[in-house]
Amino acid sequence: MTANRQILLVETPKGKLGPEHFKLVQGTAPDPKDGEVLVRVLYISLDAANRAWMQGATYRSAVEANTVMAGGGVAEVVESKAQGFAKGDLVFADTGWQDFAAVPAKQAIKIPRIEPLTHLLSVYGIAGLTAYFGLLNVGRPNAGETVVVSAAAGSVGSIVGQIAKIKGCHVVGIAGGADKCNWLKSELGFDAAVDYKAEPVFKALKTAAPKGIDVYFDNVGGDILEACLFQMNNRGRIACCGAISQYDGAPQPTGPRGVPGLIVVKRLIMQGFIVTDFNDQREKALADLQSWVAAGKLKVQEDVINGLENTPAALIGLLAGENRGKRMVRV
Ligand SMILES: NC(=O)c1ccc[n+]([C@@H]2O[C@H](COP(=O)([O-])OP(=O)(O)OC[C@H]3O[C@@H](n4cnc5c(N)ncnc54)[C@H](OP(=O)(O)O)[C@@H]3O)[C@@H](O)[C@H]2O)c1
Repeated sequence: MTANRQILLVETPKGKLGPEHFKLVQGTAPDPKDGEVLVRVLYISLDAANRAWMQGATYRSAVEANTVMAGGGVAEVVESKAQGFAKGDLVFADTGWQDFAAVPAKQAIKIPRIEPLTHLLSVYGIAGLTAYFGLLNVGRPNAGETVVVSAAAGSVGSIVGQIAKIKGCHVVGIAGGADKCNWLKSELGFDAAVDYKAEPVFKALKTAAPKGIDVYFDNVGGDILEACLFQMNNRGRIACCGAISQYDGAPQPTGPRGVPGLIVVKRLIMQGFIVTDFNDQREKALADLQSWVAAGKLKVQEDVINGLENTPAALIGLLAGENRGKRMVRV
């Protein structure tokens, strides 16, 4: 019997997520059934969405209390009872927060052994693809236009801003704290950054985006979405990627004002998307991302935490803005 550490979500949080909502238990590695692969988890992806899944069904079913916490991971096949998978293959799958998982082969995506493996969760994983498709397919920026992105120092946002620079746009990031804002400008080449924790966003955007906003990539919703809505140019596009300001704790008493009035008057397009909507274009996206990384045009920022036992604290910290770039746990 192989030991298998697992982290359970013991209670669905009503307010803010805390360490008391999780428990580490010792189990044994499962036997894979026909059509499944047994995988050893190498890296677990920490995502804002992990918290949203605790609120109820979204594009996936809700995470229930007293089950292994769900989460995507890069894992290695140790035993295969499925055609097309062999011992040693690398996969991306919803492995959950544990050492070993038996995963239906249909839900495992075979991935190439690109080094460093961490890039398979950051720039060549969901973060990079979300940034790429959300900006280019939904936001559709043209050279010379102004692109604003929120949660700009996070895993998706930091890539969105850099792709927008590659496309010749004026790029403004919105992030929490002076250090993150300076890093966006000095290291990632953003033209301007707004510290939403230190200044009113609406006013600061007047200086940072003097020609108005053509594309707003929204990772946060709430007040920041409202501030951007009022600065949108006619026929601007809003790519609705997520709403992290709404995931943890009580919802805000008011939603963004100006909806739908501003959308009508300014002829805006506001479109939500899920990264998997564009699965048929993955190869082209990955080829572009790889070429930009190789050319030094796209910097990859990763924030790797060691130890499965630290996964709950790593997620709680991400929601509080501890991370810069893609946060993950090396199991
Ligand atoms: N549509 C899709 O297919 C898809 C796929 C992946 C991710 N997403 C979405 O992408 C967004 C980013 O997620 P991620 O997993 O990559 O996380 P992330 O951006 O790496 O980390 C989250 C960041 O959000 C910021 N934040 C937290 N609370 C905030 C608030 N109230 N207002 C403004 N900013 C806040 C924090 O940075 P600060 O220090 O700047 O506050 C934190 O570092 C999320 O909305 C997520 O749901 C969507």
